Amino acid sequence: MKWDVLVVGGGAAGLMCALVAGQRGRRVCVVEHTKRVGKKILMSGGGRCNFTNLGVTPESFLSANPHFAKSALARYTPQDFIDLVDRHGIAWHEKEKGQLFCDSSSKQIVRMLLDECHAAGVHITVSCSIEKVERRADGFAVDTTHGAAECESLVVATGGLSIPRMGASGLGYQLARQFEHTIQPTRAALVPLTLDGRHLARYQDLAGISLPDAEARANGTAFQAGMLFTHGGLSGPAILQISSYWQPGDDLRLNFTPTVEPGWLSEQARERPDVSLKTVLANTLPKRLAQRLCELRFAEHPMRQYRAERLREIEQELCDWPIAANGTEGYRTAEVTLGGVDTDGLSSRTMASKHVPGLYFIGEVVDVTGWLGGYNFQWAWASGQAAGEAV
Ligand code: FDA
Repeated sequence: MKWDVLVVGGGAAGLMCALVAGQRGRRVCVVEHTKRVGKKILMSGGGRCNFTNLGVTPESFLSANPHFAKSALARYTPQDFIDLVDRHGIAWHEKEKGQLFCDSSSKQIVRMLLDECHAAGVHITVSCSIEKVERRADGFAVDTTHGAAECESLVVATGGLSIPRMGASGLGYQLARQFEHTIQPTRAALVPLTLDGRHLARYQDLAGISLPDAEARANGTAFQAGMLFTHGGLSGPAILQISSYWQPGDDLRLNFTPTVEPGWLSEQARERPDVSLKTVLANTLPKRLAQRLCELRFAEHPMRQYRAERLREIEQELCDWPIAANGTEGYRTAEVTLGGVDTDGLSSRTMASKHVPGLYFIGEVVDVTGWLGGYNFQWAWASGQAAGEAV
């Protein structure tokens, strides 16, 4: 078959690119190697798809070139995607911090993209793998398990390496290398952190305990959000966010009490001198965590027995608690992959390869990774739109 545009990968970015190109009258085929398209959309946001974030700015993305995402993000905004969602009558709500979720189900987002693709005449082939890609004078020759295809433009939208059982593959990086693009080192991000040995032993029995408001800090970046102790280490939004900025060996600090005023323990000592430190801490922190922190560092005396200076130190320690994480849970549970196709080789306006005419890279396979909270889908929509307009 001969196509104007062949999109490899039927995820968020691939479907968006396909529908935009189809609306422009291009003959588009999407090749997806799993049985169905949009699997990550379906599982996202706890089944309700956190499809964008009202606070998207280029600063919410990590990339070797922090300027690269600006153009596409400016030309396809969260409001553009909201307009699309509204046109399809999908009810949504803002959960927190600008995060928009479907009221009902992620299935509605996949349905919407498929309806748009259908209306634009996009052909979608599932359970089809790419075996070989060759550059020709007028485009690309592609061998697939469903036969040979040709296309003028080839769009690589294969996503990252996270959650292999959902269809992640390294094909995008392989194609990038084949066409002499550089790859920024990849690693799991938005991922729980692990502890081992005595560090794990300190917290393991706290598994299941969560803090609604903690701050995680590493390498000059801090995120304030919920956190959770797990059987293997730490998780929750603050931890997932900081995982993108932390690597084994880096210093990692937690602030268990980001919302209290300095001097709160001295005030408690004046007001409740006979109450134990553990009980005071348990008013602000989960009881078992308060007890563990006392066991590890502070002892458990009545408040009057602590000198004012020691109370200030304890406050400081609660705000600056070192955590010796040894790694992450890896791609098995990571929401995204950091790194990817180096943006130096791509046009920030169109996502086109700078040295192979007709070749495009979009979505997570590119070295642009967003924070937790709808940012990664917004990048998928925006980069998909940018390429869809250009192919
Ligand atoms: P995506 O992974 O969506 O699509 C790639 C497609 O290519 C897949 O269908 C894959 O099967 C296919 N493919 C791979 N290799 C192939 C090959 N060799 N041949 C053919 N096809 C191939 N983000 C967010 O903003 N809000 C959220 O709520 C969530 N929630 C969330 C939950 C979980 C559990 C995960 C794992 C991830 C999220 N994310 C998220 C991240 C978000 O899902 C992700 O950033 C986007 O899906 C990336 O879109 P892409 O289209 O680039 O890749």
